[in-house]
Amino acid sequence: MTGCVKIILKNKRSLKPADTFYIMQIIDGKKVAVEIKEELKKEISKLKQSGKKVPGLVAILVGDNHASQIYVKSKGKACEQIGILSKTEILPADTTEEELLNLVNKYNKDSNFHGILVQLPLPAHINEDKIIESINPEKDVDGFHPVNVGRLVIGKDALRSCTPAGIQELLKRYKIETKGKHVVIVGRSNIVGKPIANIMVQKEEFANSIVTVCHSAAEDLSYFTKQADILISAIGKAEFITKDMVKEGVVIIDVGINRVEDASKKNGYRVVGDVDFNAISQKCSYITPVPGGVGPMTIAMLLKNTFKAYQKFGG
Ligand code: GUN
Repeated sequence: MTGCVKIILKNKRSLKPADTFYIMQIIDGKKVAVEIKEELKKEISKLKQSGKKVPGLVAILVGDNHASQIYVKSKGKACEQIGILSKTEILPADTTEEELLNLVNKYNKDSNFHGILVQLPLPAHINEDKIIESINPEKDVDGFHPVNVGRLVIGKDALRSCTPAGIQELLKRYKIETKGKHVVIVGRSNIVGKPIANIMVQKEEFANSIVTVCHSAAEDLSYFTKQADILISAIGKAEFITKDMVKEGVVIIDVGINRVEDASKKNGYRVVGDVDFNAISQKCSYITPVPGGVGPMTIAMLLKNTFKAYQKFGG
């Protein structure tokens, strides 16, 4: 991947900040995700050739949430594409907590499966925290278990949450400088906001940043967003971040996936991010599009985590 092109127009008298502008580069998450899958496919094919066991991932789905069904199906398909052993357990919506705990426990003990994923949300009568905590942390490829969250916070090797890990991977593959840069995160969810803050603050390559986490209690959000060298938005509000809220040359990572009505579309809507892409792309150095930016990285990193769990504990 090439770096960002910064152009400075020289005039005879002086160089003013206004003379600097950026050729914006799109961060192509779809392409990077394909690259990652190809890399993993090669590794897994080497394992097969040498007669070794391959990594295995089990996805557990409870109930008939349509979006969850689609997610689980695409996770299974991605595994099959690259040679990961994949199994999907579909349980009825009235499955008891105990039944689900027993199933998780069965896969905790099954040496053919190195990753266990329980698709969220779970039906209301099941305690999600209890289920997540029942997964062996070594097989917790979602990186949601408190052991993995804690290990990340204190800078130990951990299975990291997939979307945040995917964001760091994009920064890495596009060679975007992060050391000492101000990363401003909008959103404090356990799945994206908090883990990406904990990744970017680590003393490691493609992190080592100064991190600010903003959320709904910020009285003047743009006070913070204007300071960002790298702005990561994960709030789920369509085109909420506008051009006037960011500085020239900012790197934009848009995690939002929002539907907005669009009568010109067959299905009546289009998908947009948290960021006003058309306006901000005139001002930023890099930007992730929606769709095709961060989104495809989540499954790619899930596969990478499964491979990592396999190598560490099951190879
Ligand atoms: N539901 C929505 N996103 C996710 C995810 O990344 N992992 C799991 N387990 N459930 C989800």
